[in-house]
Amino acid sequence: MKPKPLRGTVSVPGDKSISHRALIFSTLLEGTTEVKNCSQAVDCQSTAECLSALGIGITEETSALGMAKNVSVHSEGLSSLKMSSVPLFAGNSGTTIRLLSGLLAGRPFESVLDGDNSLRKRPMKRVTEPLATMGAGIEYLAVAGSGNNGETRPQTPGYAPFSIRGGKLTGQNFYLKVASAQVETAILLAGLQAEGTTTVNLPSAVRDHTRRMFEHLHVPFSQTGDRTMSVKRLTTPPKAKPIYVPADMSSAAFFMVAACLVEASDLLLTDVGMNPGRLLALEVLQSMGAAISIENPRHFGLEPVADLRIKYAGRLKGTSISAKEIARGIDEIPILALAGALCQGEFAVSGAEELRHKESDRLEAITENLQAAGAEILVKQDGFVIQGKSSLAGGSRWKTHEDHRLAMTGLIANLVCQDKLAIEETESVKISYPGFAVDLAHLCQ
Ligand code: S3P
Repeated sequence: MKPKPLRGTVSVPGDKSISHRALIFSTLLEGTTEVKNCSQAVDCQSTAECLSALGIGITEETSALGMAKNVSVHSEGLSSLKMSSVPLFAGNSGTTIRLLSGLLAGRPFESVLDGDNSLRKRPMKRVTEPLATMGAGIEYLAVAGSGNNGETRPQTPGYAPFSIRGGKLTGQNFYLKVASAQVETAILLAGLQAEGTTTVNLPSAVRDHTRRMFEHLHVPFSQTGDRTMSVKRLTTPPKAKPIYVPADMSSAAFFMVAACLVEASDLLLTDVGMNPGRLLALEVLQSMGAAISIENPRHFGLEPVADLRIKYAGRLKGTSISAKEIARGIDEIPILALAGALCQGEFAVSGAEELRHKESDRLEAITENLQAAGAEILVKQDGFVIQGKSSLAGGSRWKTHEDHRLAMTGLIANLVCQDKLAIEETESVKISYPGFAVDLAHLCQ
């Protein structure tokens, strides 16, 4: 049976990266920051809960979907952050744990940061080492009852949980090996509390939400090109001002790919964030021959936004994504791989080893799932090469590893596979997009 086309209009939830920053950067300010169209993702809820535990007043309008769309954060500047009486639980969220590490590195108290089993497997040295060099005291902690037989797991250097004793920080110059916006932002948050100048140099351009939000909020910084930012100690908290969060490009990408794959689709995605550091999926799909038009370009604060119209335009062509482009679409590689599996020609990704350090080993997981569904893929250490097919048999198990982006890719793959996939679970989609299945069903009516 042919899948139903995706038709109609949807505004996907507020951008997760921008929402985390809006909540966390509000603590730098004096007054009440209104965060409008905040992401309703469980990840952002984790950030809000950690900030509440640190004494920050957060008021939300109630919402059936979890985190509210409009959130107020009250702070009198960084001194409003107080020692938490409980460990700070970042859940599944790498952005929460890494950005809070930077924020707390300069506070005069100790904090314990932890996360779920997935987050406990993700590398933290990339933030803890620079923060320790600046003067923060970092200690990796043992985990009670987490060993195979319920014994205490000894501390694992480089992984959560860890404690941060906020120190007297000294500014430093950092050259990052990994092009990570999270690490850049963590160091800059520490730099705002350090003596002297803190500079972060990135190996390639990443999402620049931090720079745009600092500028919007009048947090002083200096910049050289799109890869180097410097800050000094923030002596006076800037006055709070509202932040409008665009719709999340990473969530929009699922519907963009779906509309490119399902015949007769015609979809309008409104208010989508068009940050230059997030455009890889859009550009890759366009280079594969997708009909995506950018309408009504405008700004929410300093973030570019547009409406995207996607019309099915026939089978996509092959393409390749190289190492220097990856950071601009790292979260979209799983859903792009599905587009690649159905393209006419070859779809190749290289320089994407970072995918192995996300909520799951996404490189391993996406290629294994697509192969099981009938795709022809050569897997490499840092990427993969797919020989596109005109159809995917499906009928196979789709392992999600409780990773939201794999679950959502599975739900889109289910539209185009000949036989239904057995998707292990879809509960994890709430990590970034609690209403995903409802919006998908609405578009496919
Ligand atoms: C994010 C940056 C990316 C991305 C993550 C969100 C951010 O991680 O994968 O989902 O908000 O800065 P890295 O900076 O570690 O690549």
